[in-house]
Amino acid sequence: MTMSSSFGCVVSVLVGFVLVASAADFSQDVEVTWGDGRGKILENGQLLTLSLDKSSGSGFQSRNEYLFGKIDMNVKLVPGNSAGTVTTYYLRSQGSTWDEIDFEFLGNLSGEPYTVHTNVYCGGKGDREQQFHLWFDPTKDFYTYSLLWNPQRIIFSIDGTPIREFKNLESIGVPFPKSQPMRVYSTLWNADDWATRGGLIKTDWSKAPFTASYRNYEADGCVWSSGKSSCSSSSSWLSQELDISSRQRLQWVQKNYMIYNYCTDTKRFPQGLPIECTAP
Ligand SMILES: *[C@@H]1O[C@H](CO)[C@@H](O)[C@H](O)[C@H]1NC(C)=O
Repeated sequence: MTMSSSFGCVVSVLVGFVLVASAADFSQDVEVTWGDGRGKILENGQLLTLSLDKSSGSGFQSRNEYLFGKIDMNVKLVPGNSAGTVTTYYLRSQGSTWDEIDFEFLGNLSGEPYTVHTNVYCGGKGDREQQFHLWFDPTKDFYTYSLLWNPQRIIFSIDGTPIREFKNLESIGVPFPKSQPMRVYSTLWNADDWATRGGLIKTDWSKAPFTASYRNYEADGCVWSSGKSSCSSSSSWLSQELDISSRQRLQWVQKNYMIYNYCTDTKRFPQGLPIECTAP
């Protein structure tokens, strides 16, 4: 993984630190917060695994909180018959009016596609789901899943291909998360009451434990500490937007792989679609 250019400003003064930071170390960056030993940091911090069995799933969270950031992580999803399992990877703030930016990977029977579920919550309100199938098998290898969150937009990307953009449209009254710091979370748990084909397909516990693996956690964010966020003004992701070729790839994904879009679900919103859906 290449070191992102936004580290540029610190390279000159803190070469030692940057070298350490570039070899992402899970034991420094995250803590396993639940699962009673089912979440493990291995290979000197280079690999993290979460597992799920009949009694429990597991999860980890970042040590830092961020107010805006670009988070990249390599994930290899539960292989084989993963029906009923859900692997989540999200940013979330605290409290009852929380903000949240979600990736959720809903498992499936062997050979059937995973569903990638995305959502954006602001002030505790979500209802902005888009779902996708993938153009590759996410269980065969590690792929990079990225959340870019800056003051103008949120971009969900997979291996550098944007799959969703949620723009800051506060100017027309759409809430946008921009004042509550968020932590990075990931969990693996059982949701066979709804996850696979709406709950019709149950988890096959004879295949347990189920395992998802993680590498190369890279958080290039504005770290929140004692009520202040610190980020370098030269962080290029802070004003990043989609260029023409990324926009074309986004359209390719949305045209060929999107399986649900709240913005076209007129049955669900009989009073009219949310305003961001009809914005130009
Ligand atoms: C599982 O596979 C079925 C059949 O291909 C598909 O309709 C569904 O979207 C897949 N994903 C989930 C989570 O059910």
